[in-house]
Amino acid sequence: MTEANARPVIAVLGAGKIGEALLSGLLHGGRQADELLFTERSAGRAAQLTDTYGIDAVDVPTAAKTADVLVVAVKPQDIDPLLDDLAAAVPAQTLIVSLCAGLPTSLFERRLPAGVPVVRVMPNTPMLVGKAMSAISPGKHATSAHLAVVEEILSVVGKVVRVPESQQDAVTALSGSGPAYFFFLVEAMIDAGILLGLPRAVAEKLIIQSAVGAAAMLQETGEHPVNLREAVTSPAGTTIMAIRELERHGVRAALLAAIEAARDRSRELGSAHEAD
Ligand SMILES: NC(=O)c1ccc[n+]([C@@H]2O[C@H](COP(=O)([O-])OP(=O)(O)OC[C@H]3O[C@@H](n4cnc5c(N)ncnc54)[C@H](OP(=O)(O)O)[C@@H]3O)[C@@H](O)[C@H]2O)c1
Repeated sequence: MTEANARPVIAVLGAGKIGEALLSGLLHGGRQADELLFTERSAGRAAQLTDTYGIDAVDVPTAAKTADVLVVAVKPQDIDPLLDDLAAAVPAQTLIVSLCAGLPTSLFERRLPAGVPVVRVMPNTPMLVGKAMSAISPGKHATSAHLAVVEEILSVVGKVVRVPESQQDAVTALSGSGPAYFFFLVEAMIDAGILLGLPRAVAEKLIIQSAVGAAAMLQETGEHPVNLREAVTSPAGTTIMAIRELERHGVRAALLAAIEAARDRSRELGSAHEAD
């Protein structure tokens, strides 16, 4: 921290899509540009981000020495050289927040100075519009106070839940990939509109607004989805005819199997980084 009770200086390591979304969200949430730093591989991109947000780009050793919180947002396949750079420069009390899909906290604990607190996060792409769902898990040395710091940071770009690290593969399958399932559903429903003879632009408008409206009802009423669906399912009406077809085609079972397959793939990818 820069002074007693000041907010932590946060450095985002790798300001790509997710890293930029976080920086932009933090500024919108009231952080000052001088409380933030970032590192980028490409000098051109770094200059463009500094122009846009007024946040300084630094090299990894400078970020490691200056920041209280290091948010790692590089692709998992780029983690090794970054960990090498960090190992030599990061103080053991610096909080490491990893957004990298599939990388266990033990990887950071093994490669960085002994006792370093690590929090693993699974965010999702709606972070780009300030509506992320992030699940956070503590590593061996992360305390409840560390988790609170991470919650405070991520709550400016969406919602946050705490889960044990053992549940991160399930989270990846559910909310990490989740937006893709909704996009797939919307795409299929727009196709149905085309099948019924509607112009594409009209079908898109009808379905996207229905998706937004349904999501808002789920969030704002707090009603269980079953109750909301029953409210639009009248006896011998149109909705129940559609529901019968969805059940006949095994859509519910398909979702269960699809999400289980995503969980298994997440486990498989993560196992490559378990202790050597
Ligand atoms: N996008 C998602 O939906 C999503 C969801 C959940 C989790 N995540 C996680 O978020 C992380 C970032 O994903 P992303 O989609 O934002 O990737 P991205 O757009 O490729 O961003 C990564 C950025 O980090 C830069 N970089 C790589 N190594 C670096 C280093 N050593 N020092 C400084 N900068 C470095 C990359 O530069 P170059 O362009 O030069 O390579 C790139 O700009 C990933 O680990 C991913 O698993 C993403």
